[in-house]
Amino acid sequence: MDRVYMDHNATTPIRDEVLETMMPYFHEKFGNASSIHSFGQECRVGIEEAREQVAGIISARPGEIYFTSGGTESDNLAIKGVAYANRDKGNHIITSQIEHSAVLNCCSFLEGRGFTVTYLPVNRFGLVDAASVADAITDQTILITIMHANNEIGTIQPIERIGQVAREAGVYFHTDAVQSVGKVPIAADIAGVDLLSLSAHKLYGPKGVGALYVRKGTVIEPLIHGGAHEGKMRAGTENTAGIIGFGVSAELAQFEMDSEARHLSVLRRRLEDLVACRIPEYVINGHPEQHLPGTLNVSFPGAEGDALILSLDLKGIAVSSGSACTSGAIEPSHVLMALGLDPRAALSSLRFSLGRGNTEEDVDYVMAHLPDVVGRLRGISTVATQG
Ligand SMILES: Cc1ncc(COP(=O)(O)O)c(C=O)c1O
Repeated sequence: MDRVYMDHNATTPIRDEVLETMMPYFHEKFGNASSIHSFGQECRVGIEEAREQVAGIISARPGEIYFTSGGTESDNLAIKGVAYANRDKGNHIITSQIEHSAVLNCCSFLEGRGFTVTYLPVNRFGLVDAASVADAITDQTILITIMHANNEIGTIQPIERIGQVAREAGVYFHTDAVQSVGKVPIAADIAGVDLLSLSAHKLYGPKGVGALYVRKGTVIEPLIHGGAHEGKMRAGTENTAGIIGFGVSAELAQFEMDSEARHLSVLRRRLEDLVACRIPEYVINGHPEQHLPGTLNVSFPGAEGDALILSLDLKGIAVSSGSACTSGAIEPSHVLMALGLDPRAALSSLRFSLGRGNTEEDVDYVMAHLPDVVGRLRGISTVATQG
């Protein structure tokens, strides 16, 4: 059976070049980067090179990059770190309703500790209105945290305009760019961003390693206390191999960004066109133009998303759905609900996230099975509703 992976927004496979560069750091180059002897120093050199590579992909200075355990930790450090350090200036945070749970759950955690949070709505394409960000700012606002690209629908926010609003108001601006870094260009400084979260496993690097960009001069408190690692921003002996893999994956992604975006756009267009030709009723979720090149989110009314995933999985196809399992119950995704979809449409959605290994043949393989799977599940669901 063929196997086709179209769930790259969940995670990506490590590239061969990345793995090769990482391997020596598990064996012969095992030193502690804080040690002053040569075993430590060869690791220190590798980590600092990775810092330059990661800084390069967002046009930042290496000294503004702090390695973490991934996107979730970076979001926590940015949001809680700014909130704690600026508590004397205010207690209000602005975010959007379609953030990743790493942001939303930080915000709700802080709500339980005396902070207030405004959750801005989005339009039907998933866009936050920069004017509504400006309107939400009060004299208590200390942080705006709005993601760059959404992980479920791929919509890309008007980050420069929001950054400008934040700068004019003198409020810190954090963006979760975990899904966009390496796929679309983002220059932290030009975008008016003070803090930016990244994660290696979304760009063909290893899992469990990420980074937070912190613009020089930003007042922020560390969350993890211990040794003087990462400029005292994040204590703990560095994950040398992971960081080095992150660096190489960032450099390769930067180098190949344009050609990769073209490749993904062609495949996404083919997938969308074939869906339009072969499946009678469907709705595309997300922005028609401002979206990640490889993300396509589609609702197939009448067919249940999780059943679609399982049926496709039996054909060797990996995609994901717009539902989440919360306390044992299947809930529609908060992102699709925020777009204004009714819960049944949200529960009937699939996310295809294409990646560098995908080909036209993969798209054709998916489309050789998807119409039948959707048709069959629609039949079942009609029988079930009639019954
Ligand atoms: C937008 C976004 N933010 C944060 C994360 C969390 O990143 P990590 O898996 O590295 O903790 C993800 C992962 O899916 C994501 O898509």
